[in-house]
Amino acid sequence: MIHILLLLLTFCTYNINATSKQPVIRNFTIIGNDFMKDGQLYRIIAGSIHYWRSLPQDWQNRLSLIKKLGCNTITTYIWWALHEPEDGMFVFDKPEHDFLLFIQLAHSLDLLVIVGIGPYITGDVDFGGFPYWITKQKQISIRRPNQVYYQLIDRYFDQLIPRLVPLQYHLGGNIINFQIEDDSDLPLISFDDSHLYYGYLRDGLIRRGIQTLINTLAWPDSLSLEKAIIPNTWTALEYTIHHSTPDALATLRKHLPDNNPFMVMEYYPAWMDYEGKPHQTMDSEQFSNGVDKILSYNGSINFYMVFGGTNFQFTNGGDWTLVYHSITTSYDYDTMITECGDAHQTKFKAVRDVIGKYLPLEPMPTPLPSSKGLYGTIQFDSQAELIQNLRPFDVLYNSNTPIQFEYLNQSYGYILYSTQLKNFIDIIEPLLLPWMQDRAVVSLDGIVQGCIGWSEKDPITILN
Ligand SMILES: *[C@@H]1O[C@H](CO)[C@@H](O)[C@H](O)[C@H]1NC(C)=O
Ligand SMILES: *[C@@H]1O[C@H](CO)[C@@H](O)[C@H](O)[C@H]1NC(C)=O
Ligand SMILES: *[C@@H]1O[C@H](CO)[C@@H](O)[C@H](O)[C@H]1NC(C)=O
Repeated sequence: MIHILLLLLTFCTYNINATSKQPVIRNFTIIGNDFMKDGQLYRIIAGSIHYWRSLPQDWQNRLSLIKKLGCNTITTYIWWALHEPEDGMFVFDKPEHDFLLFIQLAHSLDLLVIVGIGPYITGDVDFGGFPYWITKQKQISIRRPNQVYYQLIDRYFDQLIPRLVPLQYHLGGNIINFQIEDDSDLPLISFDDSHLYYGYLRDGLIRRGIQTLINTLAWPDSLSLEKAIIPNTWTALEYTIHHSTPDALATLRKHLPDNNPFMVMEYYPAWMDYEGKPHQTMDSEQFSNGVDKILSYNGSINFYMVFGGTNFQFTNGGDWTLVYHSITTSYDYDTMITECGDAHQTKFKAVRDVIGKYLPLEPMPTPLPSSKGLYGTIQFDSQAELIQNLRPFDVLYNSNTPIQFEYLNQSYGYILYSTQLKNFIDIIEPLLLPWMQDRAVVSLDGIVQGCIGWSEKDPITILN
């Protein structure tokens, strides 16, 4: 049992209100087990929406639907790989990844923001959000106290954090909280490691001017909680419909000191979709009943997701527990706001009605579906062979063994590996590529022989 004194981070700012000339104190803090906004009790009803899973032209619409649902806060992750796609190359000026504009749009709709700062975010993206190139660093050990890893985080935080500092609530912005890391499971091996590592991240934020609340995240079990609890932060819970009992609250209370609000930071309206599997759904009533239970325990909540959106380009990741599943381009999540930006037929109203039991909401009809376009029939009247048309786009490397994507400085996409087989005629045996990750299409003299990958179990027998 770890006893930790949670110190309150309380910072305020005094602005002069032009009309009344009264000083207005903006502060968002924790007193006892409650959030307090400007000295008033506050319950966070939040939903996750990732700026990179929708297009900038849709942000206003998606955010205003979240507001109409009854949320007062949004949660978004900052994805490291988007902002440092190559070693030391920082990209913050792409309109489609402009999280500052996204946060300011939320502000204009009177939505508060929780920022998941990572650097590990999970988020169902490749490598939990780490840029691909960090695997090439010698002697790096991720999510652990490790000097090589720490240096990379520091260089990234030096670029990232100053952009967010002015948007903190007490400075007139709408960011009320930062979450460091994500799940406190593997690969944080020992308690000592996780406490050191989480402490390093927390101090990295504070040192760069973050005075807002900071939280860690744990499952409602003692092992996960003890890994995640460090001083000067509070701990939120991950949670599923199956945990909708007072147990999670009891576990939290048993393992945490006072001054830690009960907040379910990840409450899942369904789940992500996998290639080749049916769309995942959850009954609206079952879900909204779970929401009701959390709110009835005086909890704060964050829906993961409130708007799922789309995994653009190659950004659909995979989910690997015991079996590998690749995730679809759609990240709809059967949540309250569908991938195309409509209110879910039943879940939007069901959840809104529950929120309305706890927060004052104006009566409102369920928003009408947006208009849809019809592309018509598309006829393909010509085709081209892929491999014969690679030049002049390709770059050639000669090597005795296949080179990994990382070492060709390629984060995603396709690589053509080709070789000349000699003395092949007599041997017919299955082709096995046991260490290959992802997926390979195997062809011989231009004729496709089959696929080998995470999901394809059978070896290919190449017939000459
Ligand atoms: C927060 O602001 C409120 C009013 O806006 C003020 O009464 C209270 O003292 C402030 N709390 C702290 C801890 O600064
Ligand atoms: C919730 O808060 C109310 C008012 O402060 C209190 O009466 C009630 O006991 C609390 N319920 C739980 C489950 O903590
Ligand atoms: C990959 O990038 C590194 C660092 O910029 C460079 O040294 C290396 O030559 C590149 N490798 C290839 C195959 O282009």
